[in-house]
Amino acid sequence: DSPLRVGVAGLGTVGAALARLLLTRAQELSAEGARPLRLTAVSARDASKDRGFDASGLTFHANAADLARDPNVDLVVELIGGEDGAAKSVVEAALETGKPVITANKALLAAHGLQLAALAEKSSVPLLFEAAVAGGIPAIRALRDAVPGQKVTRVSGILNGTCNYILTRMENEGIAFDDVLADAQRLGYAEADPTFDVDGFDTAHKLAILTSLAFGTEIEASDMYVEGIRAITPDDMAAAAELGYRIKLLGVAQLTDTGIEQRVHPTMLPLDSTLAQINGVLNAVAIDTDLLGEIVLSGPGAGGDATAASVLADLQDLARGLEPKPLRLPRGTLRPYQKARMRAHEGG
Ligand code: NDP
Ligand code: HSE
Repeated sequence: DSPLRVGVAGLGTVGAALARLLLTRAQELSAEGARPLRLTAVSARDASKDRGFDASGLTFHANAADLARDPNVDLVVELIGGEDGAAKSVVEAALETGKPVITANKALLAAHGLQLAALAEKSSVPLLFEAAVAGGIPAIRALRDAVPGQKVTRVSGILNGTCNYILTRMENEGIAFDDVLADAQRLGYAEADPTFDVDGFDTAHKLAILTSLAFGTEIEASDMYVEGIRAITPDDMAAAAELGYRIKLLGVAQLTDTGIEQRVHPTMLPLDSTLAQINGVLNAVAIDTDLLGEIVLSGPGAGGDATAASVLADLQDLARGLEPKPLRLPRGTLRPYQKARMRAHEGG
């Protein structure tokens, strides 16, 4: 089979990890019966930076949109980040030229997901985004494969690795918020602007994507109750522990009598609950349906290799010729959203 020629736009934490994987393990990562994956072109701002792989055989594009138009690129992986600018340009250019796109960019999807999905449908190419929600956890696949035909009543979880890492270390080591945030940035967990993590917006973007898939609604992250973790102190955590609770930043979308309620806020969880056991950079996604009850998936929510593994799963689908329809963003009817009041604790 002819190789599937991959262009990667963005060579930071995730992009460099993916490029390293594709260059060093392409053979073993090519699924049976699938076209082999071949990295041919990359884009970043700085062409001279050492990114831990040999880029000599690759075409470097200073302008990301040029990568999408490169005749030696069959599909584009967007790992730049941000809801506009180069990320949006490269995704649009790829879809307009009829090339499939894989993105980990939840900010872009939360702001322009339906518009991009419409563009993808017009060009009859897939737009895949497994890595955009909860890093290495196959949450999008779970919604696609595990619950079709069932009535989803609630999707919730710990959706930001940076916040969970900060809360865990504050609780266990009593370290101040700012010092732990600096570690999360050094480890590559945080967004380029960590405000998105700590103020809850990144969780809101991911929740809006999950809500859209679970309930068939538009993606709406702007009209949601969002509160981050900035105000939480080690003393708050100690007080919660004394009462038998642990504080976690949760995203919750649930079906109510009046519509879908979406909310993001710190929540006290009983210490023996499933989500209270999810610590460090781990995330968890809980899906409740009428037939299944609740399933909970947990795993690494951020980090280069874990996120690159989710991108790779999408790449392997494309290499096998799979174009899973439900992975395209739905254009379902918008149901009424409800601004929810914060709930201090859940399940206890
Ligand atoms: P980084 O900030 O580490 O990397 C961003 C990359 O984009 C850099 O290589 C940068 O180039 C490049 N870039 C910036 N502007 C341009 C431009 N105008 N043209 C071309 N390239 C550009 O981001 P991450 O790898 O952490 O994240 C990438 C995406 O993946 C984001 O959408 C993020 O939300 C998402 N994500 C990240 C996870 C993580 O754990 N980090 C997990 C899940 C999703 P240069 O290096 O030259 O400056
Ligand atoms: N900054 C994000 C997080 C990356 O910490 O969860 C993964 O989406």
